[in-house]
Amino acid sequence: MICETLPLIDLHRHLDGNIRPDTIWDLAQQNGIDLPVEHFNDFIPHVRIQDKASDLMEFLVKLDWGVNVLSSLEDCKRVAFENVEDLSLAGIDYAELRFSPYYMAMKHNLPTADVVAAVIEGVKQGCEEFGVKANLIGILSRTFGLEKCQHELDSLLVHKDHLVAIDLAGDELGKPANLFEDQFKQVANAGLNVTIHAGEAAGPESVWHAIKLLKAQRIGHGVKSYEDKHLLDYLAENNITLETCLTSNYQTGTIDRISDHPIHTFLEHGVKVCLNTDDPAVEGIELKHEYTLAKQQLGLTTQQLQDIQLNALNAAFISDSEKQTLLTEKSAKI
Ligand code: ADE
Ligand code: ZN
Repeated sequence: MICETLPLIDLHRHLDGNIRPDTIWDLAQQNGIDLPVEHFNDFIPHVRIQDKASDLMEFLVKLDWGVNVLSSLEDCKRVAFENVEDLSLAGIDYAELRFSPYYMAMKHNLPTADVVAAVIEGVKQGCEEFGVKANLIGILSRTFGLEKCQHELDSLLVHKDHLVAIDLAGDELGKPANLFEDQFKQVANAGLNVTIHAGEAAGPESVWHAIKLLKAQRIGHGVKSYEDKHLLDYLAENNITLETCLTSNYQTGTIDRISDHPIHTFLEHGVKVCLNTDDPAVEGIELKHEYTLAKQQLGLTTQQLQDIQLNALNAAFISDSEKQTLLTEKSAKI
């Protein structure tokens, strides 16, 4: 399914949506945190979607135990480090790992800027240990409102030299993009790239807002873009890549079946898409599975899958020379 001579890249992957269930269990014991069940096997349904959720917000509840057990900066560093090990285990060559520092800090009142530093350190150590490349994207969790997002942004900007972009995630329906225009002006002033979750829980107007008001260069999901032909043309003409996450879209109820995903419409319109995981531990999948789904359930051809691998490389928030290095290193490995 994967072209072995091209780098395998995950551009949409939440570090705080990929905390291993056994690490959550371990940290709960270590930190004296009560869990709702006595046996590990009974715990899995609390942290992993069983088939699907009814909507995005029900899906997102499954991420809560992962962050609720983070009682120290050392815990944050551990889950960041393990996220890089997971990349290596999944055969991923380069990833952009995103995280919401306020969400990670919230339960135990950790200093948010220090959480950012701990994640940076854990990822750095992981990259050295496992020989994987990764960059970080900071998230503003819109669910918690404007004030918390400003605090989150301030904390992220302290460490802006260690980030490649800022994202807006969480409750898309309840907290529309237009509320965050001022924050994304600050992001632009800081010289960071922008990717925005849009067209997942809400419709194509949300994607327009992400692009026009927040200056998104990539869109997380963008599923509902298929409803607006003018938007499809705009995405294609402006080379705005959709970070597609098939299993996630099914599990959040954004689509009813994988085979309903509008990826063919996107490809026919010349809209660039790439394949990604979103929250792998919560979904119980890895990136290669998403390529398998694209082939087996959506009938994508080998050529289309190769193009998608290249789309991820092209859309990555790294320099042209770093892209070239990823390409040449991969072909040298064969
Ligand atoms: N945070 C983690 N996964 C998300 C998703 N699919 N949509 C919005 N926010 C998220
Ligand atoms: Zn996401």
